[in-house]
Amino acid sequence: MTDSQITSKQAPQPKPWIEAIHAYVPGKSKGKDGRPLIKLSANENPLGTSEDALAARAQAPALYPDPDSTALREAIAAKHGLAAARVVMGTGSDELLNLAAQGYAGPGDEVIYVRYGFSVYDIAARRCGAVPVVAPDADYGTDVDALLALVTERTRVVFVANPNNPTGSYLPRGEITRLHAGLPADVLLVLDQAYGEYVAPEDDDGSLALAEAHDNVLVTRTFSKIFGLAGERIGWATGAPGIVATLNRIRGPFNVSNTGQAMALAALGDAAFVEASRIHNRDERARFVAKLDTLGNHGLRPLPSQANFVLVLFEGALTAEAAFEGLADRGYIVRWLPGQGLPQALRFTIGKPQDMDTIAEALREMAEAAQ
Ligand SMILES: Cc1ncc(COP(=O)(O)O)c(C=O)c1O
Repeated sequence: MTDSQITSKQAPQPKPWIEAIHAYVPGKSKGKDGRPLIKLSANENPLGTSEDALAARAQAPALYPDPDSTALREAIAAKHGLAAARVVMGTGSDELLNLAAQGYAGPGDEVIYVRYGFSVYDIAARRCGAVPVVAPDADYGTDVDALLALVTERTRVVFVANPNNPTGSYLPRGEITRLHAGLPADVLLVLDQAYGEYVAPEDDDGSLALAEAHDNVLVTRTFSKIFGLAGERIGWATGAPGIVATLNRIRGPFNVSNTGQAMALAALGDAAFVEASRIHNRDERARFVAKLDTLGNHGLRPLPSQANFVLVLFEGALTAEAAFEGLADRGYIVRWLPGQGLPQALRFTIGKPQDMDTIAEALREMAEAAQ
């Protein structure tokens, strides 16, 4: 049979719910002309990673890794006062978010998340045939009542990122507790804390304690953000033993590499690097937002953020698209998210001080010129 005789009917047909998925769009690092740009589009740590982690990379063996990441899980558990048996590792927290949906939802079931939530939730729901149900936001923030209002007997999983990406919004402990209390016991609440380490300790939302105390809460965390190990793909999750067992059944058998395990273990031990990163982010974010606040008369509105990025709305003459292009011309790539229903916004990862100053100044110039 020649190629031309193979009709589409004879070719393998993907499942319709897989065909409905829009593939994840990562933050770019190059301009249209292929020029490398300073990348503030993927919420990476501008300080890099811990020197201890870099040193550990060279020592990692090239054989199969420990399939259970035992030493790393024990270190994570010790750091957070958890039982190691209640910690499961993932190839990035992405893997764990997908496994949570796959383990608990299937065709006909419903998976709820908030509008402007992390884009992987939609993919995670659809790839197991479940129906994504999107709750309205409250001025770009997570609205607990809106989430609870959508719960039906078909609801199996609720995803909440706290802080949320791309909005940066944050629910305080009372709201997280209220959300959990309003959910039926057979609905899995996934609390995605990819940016959890950026939150000041006194503002902790209580997610880890909730996961320890209840049978229907899973908390996910990552080494990609504050630890600066995005390239190694290391995430972890904690929840009740039954949930951890479910994820262990379906995760990749050697899902965290030797280098990943070694680097994460070393990074976890370098508390000084993590704290320096948090303080740098807190201070630079405040400085950047204060500068943008002076551009309010030009329609620029930075949303409150507890994460390592700020979402800025462009509600005046300067559009988000024009600002995106103008910044690329000046050597910076940030995140424009029309595909997520945010054509009016840009997300800026908090970078080095001089870069944030240059960007704020460029936005002022462009906003004034657009008047
Ligand atoms: C809210 C949120 N959750 C999870 C992730 C996934 O991160 P990773 O798979 O690198 O752990 C990201 C990455 O951008 C994120 O923003």
